[in-house]
Amino acid sequence: MKLINSFAEYQKHYDFSIENPEAFWADVAENFLWRKKWNRVLEWDFHKPEAQWFIGGKLNITENCIDRHLPERANQTAIIWEPNDPSEEPRNITYQELFHEVCRVANMLKAQGITKGDRVCIYMPMIPEVAYAMLACARIGAIHSVVFAGFSAGSLIDRINDAGCKLVLATDGAYRGDKIIDLKSIIDEALEKCPTVERVLVAKRTKSKVNMKPGRDLWWEEEIRNVSDVCAAEEMDAEDLLFILYTSGSTGKPKGMVHTCGGYMVYTNYTFKTAFQYQDGQVYWCTADVGWITGHSYIVYGPLSAGATTLMFEGIPSWPDMGRFWHVAEKHRVNIFYTAPTAIRSLEKAPLSFVRQYDLHSIKVLGTVGEPINEEAWHWYHDNIGRGKCPVVDTWWQTETGGFMISPIANITKLKPAYATLPLPGVQPAIMDENGNELLANGVEGRLAIRFPWPAMARTIYGDHQRFKDTYFSTFPGKYFTGDGCKRDEEGFYRITGRVDDIIIVSGHNMGTAEIESAIDEHSAVCESAVVAYPHDIKGQGVYAYVICYDKPHEEEKLRKEIRELVAKIIGPIAKPDKIQFVSGLPKTRSGKIMRRILRKVAEGDTSNLGDVTTLLDPSVVDEIKGGAL
Ligand code: WT7
Repeated sequence: MKLINSFAEYQKHYDFSIENPEAFWADVAENFLWRKKWNRVLEWDFHKPEAQWFIGGKLNITENCIDRHLPERANQTAIIWEPNDPSEEPRNITYQELFHEVCRVANMLKAQGITKGDRVCIYMPMIPEVAYAMLACARIGAIHSVVFAGFSAGSLIDRINDAGCKLVLATDGAYRGDKIIDLKSIIDEALEKCPTVERVLVAKRTKSKVNMKPGRDLWWEEEIRNVSDVCAAEEMDAEDLLFILYTSGSTGKPKGMVHTCGGYMVYTNYTFKTAFQYQDGQVYWCTADVGWITGHSYIVYGPLSAGATTLMFEGIPSWPDMGRFWHVAEKHRVNIFYTAPTAIRSLEKAPLSFVRQYDLHSIKVLGTVGEPINEEAWHWYHDNIGRGKCPVVDTWWQTETGGFMISPIANITKLKPAYATLPLPGVQPAIMDENGNELLANGVEGRLAIRFPWPAMARTIYGDHQRFKDTYFSTFPGKYFTGDGCKRDEEGFYRITGRVDDIIIVSGHNMGTAEIESAIDEHSAVCESAVVAYPHDIKGQGVYAYVICYDKPHEEEKLRKEIRELVAKIIGPIAKPDKIQFVSGLPKTRSGKIMRRILRKVAEGDTSNLGDVTTLLDPSVVDEIKGGAL
């Protein structure tokens, strides 16, 4: 596969990918190890909806991420692991070592009776074992469902039960800055309500005292001792499931996005190499957690399938101090650095001396993902981390898209601060107006949809194809609706303006307002609640909750604290409301629908023009809400 090396070439590739998508993607797919080639490249119908890629093709993604590199790269570092505590030794895992580690975990899973098609939950911190765990599942055809280790027992229960996981891969605890998180007790609590789980394999990380349930829990280190370090890869169909990854929905229940083997492999590899222009031998660092799609696609599968050296960081940007990222970048001579706007904004607030004490000359390409990046943060990143010389690759994509969709190509696409710029080859964006008409001109703003399938798109929501259709393919029939607002400027460059649905993005984490509301409603004093986002300096968006109680609360502060703790317990600390306003009613229409537009305006501190409130059942609540705004 030829990498694009000029803008004219990008245009040529792009045009070809639109005129002849099948030939374009077949050409890309030639660069992988297939046990058997596909019969047809693509079959699709967005009305059903359905999309299948590389039909009839047989492969195993781990043979592409590991085995095929061994002749040339056995001794090259595959994973650099930087621990939470800077005084602990980092680890370098070569491709040869990765092969054996993955095979051992695969054999350990087999010894527990896990076979092709079984679902395995992974609830682990950022240690190399989490990558081994994912790849080991893929090696034997088990379907992994990684749950971010910051989620609480309640979230774990929903996800394990929805997927019907048979086994959980876990650790005793996790380090997070100067804190220790007791992961195993969260698992113990969750598993009380997870009847499908037969086994838990627990790796030691913090050496905390944990409770091991006889007959269910086993130590990873003991089980792995007895297995071979070679394991044949299972032959997978291109459309067999590779993993399920949950993302928040507008209604309470999280959606298990289903990704399949062939298309996902081809697309994450292609987009990784293209957007970042990854060069052989470079050190690449994505700061995301593997619990999110960014970690799946661009810490594990994309980079490893490209034979890259990928850095995995266990810690947080603010510990031991605000210079940690830059320290790690210097220490491992990172060449490509990929992070989120929320991290940039928080580091931007620290004195520049935290940046300047480190030599960041190794960095050649910067990336950002997760939410719209504001111009100020873009410039700070470009000027201070990129020394004014490195392109900022602003990658717009989603859990559902599997890989980058709209993104600059490093050193090729002209940059525009806060713009994700142009669609990558194969991606056909459409901007839609309120009436469902496509806006064909430049210089327009509307809702972002995608007109044509791409290989890594999610195939369905696990166990609920109707919801998949309703959520993504019914707003604009025949097109995939992203849920994002978007501008296309006079030059045809795209700027993503943010969600237009009830999803909010807090510190780059996607959350459904309904999910937070139902957690708040669990409090015995609470009758009803409504959650909206408001602009937050560092997090991008903060959580603003309007709460109605059965009785007027006596001690508001105490109740606020209880509600915040309850949300942390049910969903996870990331979902805690930043502001809680107690109200006696919510602005509802006569049909009972909450007018969130009004709640958003008040939360934003803009009460001058609330628009038409005459359709409200009780317009007087608006004054009360305005008066009590936080
Ligand atoms: C939503 C998807 C893709 C991995 C991380 C988040 C927002 C993502 C950008 C960007 C503006 C962005 C969108 C999208 N988003 N990247 N570069 N510019 N907005 O994955 O949790 O599935 O969230 O994140 O609103 O719909 P996710």
